[in-house]
Amino acid sequence: MEQELKGQVIIVTGGASGIGREACLALAGKGADLVVADFNEEGAKAVAEEVRALGVKAEAFKVDVSKAEQVEALVDFAVTTFGTLSGMFNNAGVSKVQSLLEMEPASYLKVIEVDQHSVYYGLHYGARAMVKLGVKGVFVNTASIYGSVAARGSFNYNAAKSAVIAMTRSGALELAEFGIRVAAVAPGFIETPMMGQLDETARAALASQHVTHRLIQPEKVASVVAFLFTDAASAINGSTVAVDDGFLA
Ligand code: NAI
Repeated sequence: MEQELKGQVIIVTGGASGIGREACLALAGKGADLVVADFNEEGAKAVAEEVRALGVKAEAFKVDVSKAEQVEALVDFAVTTFGTLSGMFNNAGVSKVQSLLEMEPASYLKVIEVDQHSVYYGLHYGARAMVKLGVKGVFVNTASIYGSVAARGSFNYNAAKSAVIAMTRSGALELAEFGIRVAAVAPGFIETPMMGQLDETARAALASQHVTHRLIQPEKVASVVAFLFTDAASAINGSTVAVDDGFLA
């Protein structure tokens, strides 16, 4: 049971920090070999070392997921290094709280490129590699509760994350015939470095929107992500699973 992902090769983007780092630990705990991909190369190397200590193979890869050719190179690296590709956690993302009136095109596009286009690149290049290899696989994408409801100051983030939910559905529809499954998680407010840009009052205001009035720990998202990669989740296809402590309830 513990090693149900043994022999699988999974790419985790944004693997150096927060939800991505915890997902690496959870996936390694189930026996998966990993490519820890992040813009933060040192952070990715540290996580790769951490998961190798759990007994799996892991390599770090520096990538900017908003660049198509770099995501293509990431997929190539995984296949060349491990000989196959079984899955991809498209998780890297950024946010920048800013009103619509203040949001210049560059600021709008930055979040769209990192949070939205990256998921297309991951699905496109990752699935092409799997189809070419003739292997089945699983993609999990990180959406957000803000893909389903609007938040002030999150115009670009709302747009990107609702697109991730839509791409999870259409990706599942298109890739099912190749034995490839696509799902997503929609986290609530998670205690990660991304929260670091907020002061205590703002964090408490977010936490109060959960039914327990606490921020969610990233390992609670990671355990759901790891489950979605397993065969036990084989009927979850095109769905976005909320990990939001009742926010959407
Ligand atoms: P984090 O800031 O701890 O980790 C994000 C990681 O992504 C960092 O290691 C960063 O270096 C990497 N990254 C950023 N831009 C990149 C790029 N262009 N290319 C490659 N790597 C890049 O943040 P956290 O909270 O773990 O976020 C992970 C995902 O979860 C994001 O997609 C975020 O939008 C989503 N999310 C986070 C929530 C939260 O409350 N923290 C809530 C809902 C969704």
